[in-house]
Amino acid sequence: MKEKVGLWVVGATGGVGSTAALGLAACARGPVDHAGLVTALPDFDGVGLVALRDIVFGGHEIRTESLAAAVQALHDQSGAFDDKLITKCLPDLRRMQRNIRPGTLSGSGPTVRALCDRSDVPDDKTPAAAIERLAADIRDFHKRNKVARVVVIHAASSEPQPQGRIPKGKNSDALSASLRRRTGCPLPASSLYAAAAIEAGCSYVNFTPALGMNVPALRARATAAGLPFMGSDGKTGETLVKSVLAPMFAMRHLPVMSWVGQNILGNRDGAVLNDAATRAAKIRSKDRTVKSLVGGEADTRVSIDFVPSLNDWKIAWDFVHFRGFLDTKMSLQFTWQGADSILAAPLLLDLARLAELEHRRGHAGVMRHLAFFFKDPMDVKELNLFAQWQAMLAHVKRESR
Ligand SMILES: NC(=O)c1ccc[n+]([C@@H]2O[C@H](COP(=O)([O-])OP(=O)(O)OC[C@H]3O[C@@H](n4cnc5c(N)ncnc54)[C@H](O)[C@@H]3O)[C@@H](O)[C@H]2O)c1
Repeated sequence: MKEKVGLWVVGATGGVGSTAALGLAACARGPVDHAGLVTALPDFDGVGLVALRDIVFGGHEIRTESLAAAVQALHDQSGAFDDKLITKCLPDLRRMQRNIRPGTLSGSGPTVRALCDRSDVPDDKTPAAAIERLAADIRDFHKRNKVARVVVIHAASSEPQPQGRIPKGKNSDALSASLRRRTGCPLPASSLYAAAAIEAGCSYVNFTPALGMNVPALRARATAAGLPFMGSDGKTGETLVKSVLAPMFAMRHLPVMSWVGQNILGNRDGAVLNDAATRAAKIRSKDRTVKSLVGGEADTRVSIDFVPSLNDWKIAWDFVHFRGFLDTKMSLQFTWQGADSILAAPLLLDLARLAELEHRRGHAGVMRHLAFFFKDPMDVKELNLFAQWQAMLAHVKRESR
C-alpha cells in the first residue's frame, strides 16, 4: 500500500503521544527494534496494514511543551530512549510539531484547565463552535499532508465521570441543538473531540477511560457516516496481567475470594489521577476485568497513588487470595514494574494501523475485534486476553485471504 495515512493524537505532546511520535520517526529513519508493537508480529503479515513510515503525525494540545522537549524530559527523568535516537529524530519531531494545533478546554474540569499554558487555546463560545474548529484543524491536516485517511486517537488527560446526565437519545439533531447553547455543555471534552473526528470523516479510538464516542447520538452518527470507532482505556500493565491470570483461576476452579491491586505512578497522568473524581473513573475501568472474569463474589479492590519521584514508572502490587480443594486457602502475589509511555505508545501505532485498515475496508461502527487492547472494551463481554487475541486475528485475516 503506497498511500499515506494521518494519525491525529488528542494530547499530542503527552507522555504517550510524544513517545508515539518518536517511535514513528525512528521507524521511518531505519531499522529499529519492534518490541512492543503487536502489529509487527508475523501474524499480521499480508493483512495490508499501512507501513509505519507512511503514517503522518499531528494532533491537538493545550500545553506549550514541544514533542522534542517532551521526549527529552522522558529521557532525563525516566531513563527512556537512547539520547542518540532523540538527536537523530529531532528534525522529524520539529516537522511533526508544525502539525500540532491548540485544543479546547470546553467540557474540561479544573484539573485539566490548570495544565493549560498555551496562550493560543481559544475561548470557544459554544461546544458546537469548538467541534467545528477542531474538525477544521483535522481537515486541514488531511489536505496539507495529502493523506488518504486520518485516525483520531484520544490520548489526553483522564477526565472525571461526567456529572450531569449524558444525553441518552440517538437523535443527533437534539444533541447538536444542546451543543449550540453557550452554557450547560452536556458533554465532556473527550466527546467534543469524538464529535470533531466524525465531522472530519475520521476513524476514532479512545485510549483513555473518558466518555469519548460512547454517547448514543455520537455512536449513531459515526456509524451512519461509515466510520469505525473503539475504546476505551488502553490495557498496558496491571490489567493486562489480570486478563491472563483471572481466566486461569476460573478454568482451574480455584475460586478467588479477594483480589487487591495497589498501583503507584509518578508521571503527569498520575498527577491528574490524584484528583479523586478522575481517579474514580480510572478505577472503575481497571476493576472491570477481574470482576467479570472471576465472578461477582470476589472482593476486588484497586487503588492508585501518585508518587512523583517515580516519574514515568508505574508499579503494581497484586495480592490474590483464592480457595483450593477442601477449602484450603492460598495466595498469589505479583509485582509489575513498567515504563508507562513505552508500554502504551506502540499500542497507539497498532491501533492507528488497525483502525485505518477497518476504515479502508469500508466497515463502520464499534471495532469489537480490538477489545484485546482495552481495559473496558465497548460492547464486548469477553475479557480473556487469549480469546480477544484470537477474535482479533480471525477478524483481520478474514478479508485478506
Ligand atoms: N501510559 C499508559 O500506560 C496508559 C494506559 C492506559 C491509558 N492511558 C491514558 O492515556 C492518556 C495519556 O497518558 P499520558 O501518560 O500520555 O498522560 P500525559 O498527561 O503525559 O498526557 C496527556 C496530554 O493531554 C493533554 N491534554 C489534556 N487535556 C487536553 C485537551 N482538552 N485537549 C488537548 N490536549 C489535552 C495534556 O496537556 C497532556 O500533554 C491518559 O488519559 C491515560 O490515563 C495511559
